[in-house]
Amino acid sequence: MRLLVTGAHGQLGRELIGVLGASAHHVVGVTHPECDVASPESIARIMERVRPDVVINCAAWSNVDAAEQHRDEAFAVNATGPRLLALECARRDALLCHISTDYVFDGAASSPYREDAAVHPLGVYGASKAAGEDEVRAVSPHHQIVRTAWLYGQEGPNFVLTMVRLARERGELRVVADQRGAPTWTGHLAPALARLVQLGATGTFHLTNGGDTTWHGFARAIVAAAGLTVPVVAITTDEYPTPAQRPPYAVLDNAAWRRLGNPPLPYWGDGLREYLRRRGLLSHGAADLDTDSGAAS
Ligand SMILES: NC(=O)c1ccc[n+]([C@@H]2O[C@H](COP(=O)([O-])OP(=O)(O)OC[C@H]3O[C@@H](n4cnc5c(N)ncnc54)[C@H](OP(=O)(O)O)[C@@H]3O)[C@@H](O)[C@H]2O)c1
Repeated sequence: MRLLVTGAHGQLGRELIGVLGASAHHVVGVTHPECDVASPESIARIMERVRPDVVINCAAWSNVDAAEQHRDEAFAVNATGPRLLALECARRDALLCHISTDYVFDGAASSPYREDAAVHPLGVYGASKAAGEDEVRAVSPHHQIVRTAWLYGQEGPNFVLTMVRLARERGELRVVADQRGAPTWTGHLAPALARLVQLGATGTFHLTNGGDTTWHGFARAIVAAAGLTVPVVAITTDEYPTPAQRPPYAVLDNAAWRRLGNPPLPYWGDGLREYLRRRGLLSHGAADLDTDSGAAS
């Protein structure tokens, strides 16, 4: 199988190249300078060169807050980009695996979102990603739309590395405790994506690590696992205003993935521990993470 991965220098892109590269597949990863997904010429050129059976689109405008001031740029990458890729994939009968986000939901739910739940994004980033999903569905039935959440991995930048840095710099961390989701490690997500592509099933999927927590619970677990002692104070979203509004509840039910006979992804705390271990940040005494998991997704 010939695979093309866009956004190959991002957190997920890097992880996927490593996972897929270890398989028997022919894998080509293209970075932003090598392929701008918002440019039809750029996409046509790379598709002609690689002639992929599968395209995995990891390219994204992923800065949630900056998107509020850069609507056109966010939509160009997150909506026009997937549309252009879907058009080329449809023309060549290739499968498009497109990565999306929990931020397409408004977070008004109190139980995990199913794949067919109605989307209602709160900010520009979420709206651009929801538009990207619509574009892909409208253009090519041969697609996988995979929503994930609270992603971290590789070099970042991400919440885990930021918390470790701030915990070393500051005497106290103040972290939002009224937004709930499932922190997801690229090291668990990438092999699941490889499996999904191999299976070839089409439609919309949710793929996150198991369990859920708040940003505050996640931060406490990071600090504890890294062997740091700084207090982590719980605050409300109102006490930490950001340009973009975020869903208070963004837990995703991974039912479509399980229906294919796949086991749930590991518990989020296991992903965190393994990520920290690989980066040489796991404290030797951190056998049990301090977690506040709710219902498993
Ligand atoms: N990070 C999260 O918490 C999170 C949560 C839910 C879903 N997701 C989704 O998961 C996917 C992967 O996210 P990630 O965390 O790996 O993102 P990331 O680390 O920000 O990587 C995105 C990559 O896309 C590239 N890119 C930006 N504009 C591009 C363009 N016009 N053409 C080609 N490449 C472009 C970026 O390159 P440059 O930096 O060089 O521009 C970057 O390497 C995205 O679809 C994202 O929306 C992420």
